[in-house]
Amino acid sequence: MHAARVRNYLAACFFCMQQEQTTNATFSTKLGLIMATAGSAVGLGNIWKFPYIAGENGGGAFLIIYLVCVLLFGLPLLMVEFIIGKHSGKSAYGAFRELTHNNRWQWLSWSCLLTPLIITGFYFVVTGWCLNYLTEAITNTFNNLSATQLTENFENLQNHTLRMFGYSILAVLLTAAVLWFDVNKGIERLSKILMPLLLLMMLLMAGRVLMLPGSNVGMSFFFEADFSKITPDVVLSAMGQCFFSLSIGMGALITYGAYMPKRQNITVTSLQVVILDTLVALLAGIIIFPAVFAFGFDPAEGPELVFVVLPAIFEQMSFSWFSSVLFFTLLGIAAITSTISLMEVVVAFLTEATAHRRYPLNRHKAVLITAALCIVMISVCILSISGSWQWLVIAGHDMFYWFDKVTSCFLMPINALAMTLFVGWILQKKDVKTELETHHNIVHRTYINVFWQLVRFFVPIAILAIFLNGIGIFTI
Ligand code: PHE
Repeated sequence: MHAARVRNYLAACFFCMQQEQTTNATFSTKLGLIMATAGSAVGLGNIWKFPYIAGENGGGAFLIIYLVCVLLFGLPLLMVEFIIGKHSGKSAYGAFRELTHNNRWQWLSWSCLLTPLIITGFYFVVTGWCLNYLTEAITNTFNNLSATQLTENFENLQNHTLRMFGYSILAVLLTAAVLWFDVNKGIERLSKILMPLLLLMMLLMAGRVLMLPGSNVGMSFFFEADFSKITPDVVLSAMGQCFFSLSIGMGALITYGAYMPKRQNITVTSLQVVILDTLVALLAGIIIFPAVFAFGFDPAEGPELVFVVLPAIFEQMSFSWFSSVLFFTLLGIAAITSTISLMEVVVAFLTEATAHRRYPLNRHKAVLITAALCIVMISVCILSISGSWQWLVIAGHDMFYWFDKVTSCFLMPINALAMTLFVGWILQKKDVKTELETHHNIVHRTYINVFWQLVRFFVPIAILAIFLNGIGIFTI
């Protein structure tokens, strides 16, 4: 009897140690988690998507709504996802079941599988564009091209289906390699150097661009708000962009929350990530818009905006070859740290979902399956862009447009709404309180109360109103 109890005790200790190890295996330090979350957040969403969406939606007015969304929804929702992940210790697959002991919220888990998969469809294609531009920077292809030639250069890439396939698949393979060899530590260390380098590089570029004649027109476009341009659709786009940029509403942060070291302070981490992410987006706007007007491009050019404007900026910079190679390398890495988190959600989901099944998937198999799924999504996207599969063009838009639109303006808001309702109405206030307090930092009661009211009432009502208003069901 006694021996059995000792055995049970030892087994329990061993289980705990293993648990500790798996948690620690991914993020050994607080800084590691911050870097990984910041790596997930800062990416093409800030540097490629933010300027073009802002450009299409009137510049300054969009910027103000975006910043309000980041403060009112972005920050609390980041914390909401971290709380779900950290409290359950599970990925998006098991988190809701673990916390409710029933299957009622399982649809949300599946939605957290679907959303990143759809995002990978267009995100890897844009990452592929970056890699293509990196090789063009190395071979000096876009040096001394005029504005029209730069636009043609981008169109050539779009018409070159094979090249797009090649680079996008290369991006999937690079990401899969990081997940396969579990080299997160290496990436953590790398990001500690590369992230500040990216910021520094962007500061230098902003400095150069602001010296161009006519750059002030771009600055006024970006910073002067013309509220007549604001429609319900613009508000929904701003909210969607905020979710996309902060990687909210698709389970990435639930998964990272599960890997969070116990003593990590959720509030401080979230705040740091929000500030860094917003700073990078703002800098991207400060670089792109003055250049757009100085070189005579159209701010509402669409997804190609950054890819035609950036090479034109490098032509004006000293050490132009070096600057362009360095910048596209940094952009490529920023994109890959985001694709890592997109694929990690699916990998963690698959391993956890099959853990107690007849055919459990280990990490390696899960990485292979995820990579294959991503390649399917990319194929759908590329074949529809190039026009090879005309039936994939719906209502005049290709799948690149739809994948982006459906995730940012539909799936992510719905997932985020469900997650905030989950924390506000299903979790106990005391659980949320324990997660928000750490040994180092006793968070004040008022702060908890404000957060609690935001999450229970304000955030869900506001998301629902913007969403319904944006899709035209309900007008404010
Ligand atoms: N936040 C990333 C970016 O800004 C994109 C992303 C979205 C990554 C969702 C992971 C999950 O580029």
